[in-house]
Amino acid sequence: MKKFFVIGNPIKHSLSPELHNFWLKKNKIDAIYEKIKLEDNELEDFINKLRNDEIHGINVTVPFKNKVIKYLDKYSLEVEETDSVNTIYKNGDEIIGHNTDVAGFELGLRHSKINTLHKTIFILGAGGVVPSIIYSLIGMGCKKIFLTNRTIAKAENIKKKFKDIEVIKWGEIPDFDIVINATSVGLKGDSLGLDFQVKDKIFYDVIYNPKETQFLKKAKESGNKIENGKFMFIYQANQSFSIWNNTIPKIDEEVLKIF
Ligand code: ATR
Repeated sequence: MKKFFVIGNPIKHSLSPELHNFWLKKNKIDAIYEKIKLEDNELEDFINKLRNDEIHGINVTVPFKNKVIKYLDKYSLEVEETDSVNTIYKNGDEIIGHNTDVAGFELGLRHSKINTLHKTIFILGAGGVVPSIIYSLIGMGCKKIFLTNRTIAKAENIKKKFKDIEVIKWGEIPDFDIVINATSVGLKGDSLGLDFQVKDKIFYDVIYNPKETQFLKKAKESGNKIENGKFMFIYQANQSFSIWNNTIPKIDEEVLKIF
């Protein structure tokens, strides 16, 4: 039986096992997918289990997306551009890292019929997933990206990699078509405390649990279109599954019921 894992810290709340185990069963693949909490000093040994064929694939989440890179033999362009890995697999004797958050974000938006071509995007937050979102948006041909973060130095750091983005102060609201909450604010029902005063815009939250954060709730009440990160999550998993199992699993009503 093959074994797949998602590694992170904390990891309790990850829904990846539910999703992957559902698809494994549907596709009659003799495998199991589990979550495991690791410490920094356990990463290398864990990745070596993949090298020794004890395990067969790893998903990586916060705070290890960057930290695992030094234990890989090779990585994809998406990893090079974002400095983050969320999927690890073995090809021949080599351990390869890929970042399916980039495709996951794009496919999720396309699924929801949100078009970013020539649009101005405003991103809140500078955590682990933001470089993937920026790289994805640039690939889709957006016009302009504004980035803000409570700790501005972290946003400035992302700008070193993506020179064309504009970093603005926390609390400033530029003219935009789509605003993306990529902070962790909203996970516990908390509010960003930003005053948008706009309508007919698109508000996107990377958070999908709760389904409607305060950020989305208020935006909807003001007459904006809203979308949460559920499809980004599903599509990044879908891409990882395809890499490991050579099968593209179906995203249907049954899958959506998992959430
Ligand atoms: P990491 O930074 O470890 O990747 P993350 O959950 O991906 O973790 O990112 C957390 C994001 O939410 C950061 O942008 C963080 O802002 P800081 O860099 O200033 O910490 C943001 N965040 C968390 N709590 C916040 C709050 N109360 N107000 C505004 N931003 C907040």
